[in-house]
Amino acid sequence: MTAVREHFGSRLGFILAAAGSAVGIGNLVAFPVAATKSGGGAFLLVYALFVFLICLPVMMAELALGRRSDKDPVGAYRQLSNGSHLWRIPGWLALITPFMIAVFYLVVTVWVLGYFIETVTGNLNLLATQDFFIHFINTPKVFIYLVALMLIINAILSMGVKDGIERAAKTLMPMLFVMLLGLVIFVLTLDNALLGVKYYLIPDFSKIDGTIISKAMAQAFFSLSLGMGIMITYGSYMKKRDSIPGSSRAVAITDTLVAFTAGLLILPSIFHFNPQIDPSELSESSAGMIFLFLPKIFLALQDSIGYMGASAVAAIFFFLVLVAAITSLVSIIEVPIATLRDERNMTRKKAIYVVAGVQFVLAIACAVSFGMVNWFTEFVQLAGVNKSFFDLVEIIFYDTILPLNGLLVCLFVIYKWKKANFDKELQEGDAAFAGSFSQKYVNFSLGTFIPLILLLIFINTVALKFFGHSFI
Ligand code: PFF
Repeated sequence: MTAVREHFGSRLGFILAAAGSAVGIGNLVAFPVAATKSGGGAFLLVYALFVFLICLPVMMAELALGRRSDKDPVGAYRQLSNGSHLWRIPGWLALITPFMIAVFYLVVTVWVLGYFIETVTGNLNLLATQDFFIHFINTPKVFIYLVALMLIINAILSMGVKDGIERAAKTLMPMLFVMLLGLVIFVLTLDNALLGVKYYLIPDFSKIDGTIISKAMAQAFFSLSLGMGIMITYGSYMKKRDSIPGSSRAVAITDTLVAFTAGLLILPSIFHFNPQIDPSELSESSAGMIFLFLPKIFLALQDSIGYMGASAVAAIFFFLVLVAAITSLVSIIEVPIATLRDERNMTRKKAIYVVAGVQFVLAIACAVSFGMVNWFTEFVQLAGVNKSFFDLVEIIFYDTILPLNGLLVCLFVIYKWKKANFDKELQEGDAAFAGSFSQKYVNFSLGTFIPLILLLIFINTVALKFFGHSFI
C-alpha cells in the first residue's frame, strides 16, 4: 500500500515555503554584491526582467511537472514521459544536482553559523581581523557546527511537509522579513547612508555587457531555486485547487523584493564605513563580502553605538543569513528524501538517515578542502588552475548543470509532455489563465528563446570553466 502523499496545508504555507527556498544567501549577499559591481540600478533592471520574463515560466513548468505527477523529480520525468529511457536522465540530474549543491551550501552555512556564534560570544573584534576567516574555516569547530546545523535541518525535515517544512517557513520567514526591515531602517539612519542608496539605485548602463547579462541571468535562476528539482518536489505537495501561476508570481515577487531590500542594507553600510569607496572595486565573491568585509563594517559601528551595539547588529545580520540559508537547505534536502521515499519506498526517517549520512561525509570533504587536507585542497586542475573539491562541486553543479537542468525542463514540458497537458495543469486552480496573454507568453517562451538562452549559458560556462575560453 502506498502512503497518501503529504501536502502543504494552505496556499500561504506553500508560498512561504517556496519563498523560504528561494530566499537564501543568494538574495542577501550575492545579489547586492553583483548589483554593486555591475551598474547598480541597471543590473537591477536586467535582473528583474530575467526573473519575470525567463525564470517565472520555468518555475511554473517545474511546479506543474511536480503537481501533475505527484512525484519526486525522478518519478515525475519517468511518469510524464511514459517511461522513456532518455528522459530519465534529467530526472536523475534533478536529483544529483540538489544533493550536491546542498553539500557546498551546507559548508557555507556552517561558516555563517560559526560567525553568528562568535559574534554572540563577544568576538566581533576577532572576526574583523585580516586572517580570521581562513583560520576559522580550518579549525575543528567547523565539524561541530556542521553536526549542529544538520541536526536542526533534519529535525525540521523529520516532521514532514506540513508540520515540518511549512511550519518552519511560517515561523522563520516572517521573522526574516522583520529582521531585514529592522536592519535596513537602522542602516538608513547612519551617516552617508544615502550615498549608498544613490549608488545602488542610479543606473550605470555603461557597465552592462554580455558578461553582466549572463551573470544576472545565472543569479536570477539560482535565486529562484530553479534547476534543482526543488520546485518539482514542492509542486507535488501543492493542492490542485491552488493556482500555479499566481503562487509562482508571489514567490518571484517576494524573492526579488528581499534581494532588492538586501541591497538597501549592504550598500548604505559600505558607504557609512567609507564614503570615498569605489564599490566596484570590492571583492567579486559573496564569501569575501560576508566573511571578510562585513565584519569590519559592523565593528566600525562601535564608534557610534558601542561594541555591544555593533555586536548586536552583526549578530542580527548573521542570524538573518542563517535563517535564510536554513530554509533553503530544508527545501533542497527534501528533494533526495522525496526521491528515496517515492522510488525506494523508504520511510521519511530512513530516507533522512541515508541522505544525511552521505551528505555529512561529502560536506566534510568540502570543509577540509581549504587547507586541512591537501588532497582535497588541490583536488583537480581545470583550465590549468588548481581547484579544491569544494570548488569542483560548485563549478560542476551550480555553474554548469543548473542551466542544463533548466533547459531540459523547458524542452521536456513543451515537446515531450506537450503544451496541451502543461496548459491543462496550469489551468487547474486558475481558470482565468486559460487563453490569457500570460499563457500564450509562457507557452511560446518555454518552447523557444528560454531554452536557447539557457543553452548559450551552458555552453559558455563549459567553455569558460573547463577550457578557459569565454564567448561572451
Ligand atoms: N535561492 C537560494 C539562494 O538564493 O541562496 C538558492 C538555493 C541554494 C536554494 C541552495 C537551496 C539551496 F540549498
